[in-house]
Amino acid sequence: MDYNLVKINVEDQEGNQQEVEVPTDISMSLMEILKGMDYHILATCGGIALCATCHVQVKSGYESLPEATDDEWAMLDTLPKLTQTSRLSCQIKVNALQEGMSFKLLGETQL
Ligand code: FES
Repeated sequence: MDYNLVKINVEDQEGNQQEVEVPTDISMSLMEILKGMDYHILATCGGIALCATCHVQVKSGYESLPEATDDEWAMLDTLPKLTQTSRLSCQIKVNALQEGMSFKLLGETQL
């Protein structure tokens, strides 16, 4: 297997932290990867920046991510739990991830 993998740290809504390996050479978003790993992300909009249940706080590496789009900002702006480094994980492509980045899941787990 010839995957490019990076290790990132993920903290779930209950505060459990875990290092996970993410392949970066596929066309998926961070939301899709984490959901596939059974993290509790509703992603009710399917990844088009409309539900914000994939909200994450980027605890480390925020500056290295591409800028959020206007649509992402518009959605983030509606969130009561907005942080200085909030992003929607469905809008983060895995190829933008770098070793050692750290994320905390902040999305609602039930609506
Ligand atoms: S999955 Fe709905 S905003 Fe990201």
